[in-house]
Amino acid sequence: MDPLAASLALNQRFPNEDPSFMEVIIESTPLAGSETGARIVEKLVRAKPEAVLGLATGSTPLGLYRELIRRHREGGLDFGAVTTFNLDEYVGLDPRHPASYHRFMQENLFDHVNIRPDHIHLPDGMTADIPAYCAGYEAAIRAAGGIGLQVLGIGHDGHIGFNEPGSSLGSRTRLKTLTAETIEANRRFFSDAGEVPHHVITMGVGTILESRVCLLLAFGEAKAEAVAGMVEGPVTAMCPASVLQLHPQTVLIVDEAAASRLRRADYYRYVYANKPEFQRDASFPVR
Ligand code: PGA
Repeated sequence: MDPLAASLALNQRFPNEDPSFMEVIIESTPLAGSETGARIVEKLVRAKPEAVLGLATGSTPLGLYRELIRRHREGGLDFGAVTTFNLDEYVGLDPRHPASYHRFMQENLFDHVNIRPDHIHLPDGMTADIPAYCAGYEAAIRAAGGIGLQVLGIGHDGHIGFNEPGSSLGSRTRLKTLTAETIEANRRFFSDAGEVPHHVITMGVGTILESRVCLLLAFGEAKAEAVAGMVEGPVTAMCPASVLQLHPQTVLIVDEAAASRLRRADYYRYVYANKPEFQRDASFPVR
């Protein structure tokens, strides 16, 4: 489906009274940004305990997960009815491998909160039949009622999930070949550089677009150009995150460094500072 048709289809899924927005929140530090992100997730889970969360790996969401763990321990935030779907996993990597996204999620979130193991979904990078497996992953998301809130990071090249530049903006969960740049960026997680897989299973751009809310976090100067492309550039498969301009309810949280190439940063700050109270934090309807 072309992006415009995808956008129109998305709009039809939302009742007219739902607010539509791309909200840009510029925080002073990654810590402050992670706290704001956690507040939004907490608000959803408290309002809808059986929420379906889409989760991401990488260094960016670590602060968000730490903050959710703290809120679980100290504030009684209950994940007992929550269901999760992760964006992606390396092909051919055992789930017990230290660099697998299964291990990452286990160590950085699942071991520390009360999400039921049978409610956790991550793509299986060891599957023998990748196309059938991917179709099943999509079916599982649909059967769960769709993703209520999808946590996203952004690659230096504008990728979301592992949807590298050039990915179809209508793509679904599938096998993807990583770019040399992404393989290089991920080398740091592997003790042996030659071990970095070249293939992944990732939710598609179209899959991500169907999430009711997208919460994208980006911190640091190295992300500034990708963030500018996402918010202020043209909608193009060359910067897959830019398709979120067509998504009706995206919240982007950046620190000052990641915001440094946004031409309209002052306007976003002004909008956020002057929001009516009823619109603060997750003003979107909870579904
Ligand atoms: P990072 O990765 O959070 O480790 O920077 C983000 C991404 O590649 O999507």
